[in-house]
Amino acid sequence: MHKDIEQKLYPEAQIIQGIDRVAKEVTAFYGGRDFTVISILKGSCIFASDLIRRIPIPLELGFCACSSYGSGTTSGKLNINFLPEESEVQGHNLLLVDDILDTGNTMHALKKEFLARGAKEVKSCVFLDKPSRRTLEFEADFKVFEVEDLFVVGYGLDYAGRYRNLPYVGSLKPEIYQQPAQGA
Ligand code: IMP
Ligand code: MG
Repeated sequence: MHKDIEQKLYPEAQIIQGIDRVAKEVTAFYGGRDFTVISILKGSCIFASDLIRRIPIPLELGFCACSSYGSGTTSGKLNINFLPEESEVQGHNLLLVDDILDTGNTMHALKKEFLARGAKEVKSCVFLDKPSRRTLEFEADFKVFEVEDLFVVGYGLDYAGRYRNLPYVGSLKPEIYQQPAQGA
């Protein structure tokens, strides 16, 4: 796996420092209010689990699954595969957590969907933000790092389903995504 990485962009220690900062911002924002962190699977599972353990105030945790990428490196059609139960959404303050904000499609669609399903407030928190790729106007309320227009993997982010378990974020060697994906 490591041999497929062109450049290490964020080592583990820097990731944790960044998450500590954002966890403090989230904690200050919610203060005494109830809220539910919605981790968008699969990409955000690692980020969300590190983030919530650094937020020392009560919260609930929910999951929702979405996919917008096939095995390529450009955004495709968004599929919402499952959402939390109505009772977990209606009247709740939600914090949507995703691995990366790219075109903005996922966050835009999910925010609309959760508001239509009766959420009281919907905020967003992303591990990475690629503002140069945005096709829809969408700003994350909380973000850890901004990245350039580069396909990155690791720390939850995948290419063709792989590399999510890399403990750091790195760019993939172009020859990896220029060849047909295997077993994705
Ligand atoms: P958006 O809907 O275009 O904002 O895309 C969000 C989703 O695209 C993320 O949740 C990721 O799954 C995927 N994505 C976007 N850029 C990258 C990348 O550089 N590496 C891995 N996945 C990415
Ligand atoms: Mg994803």
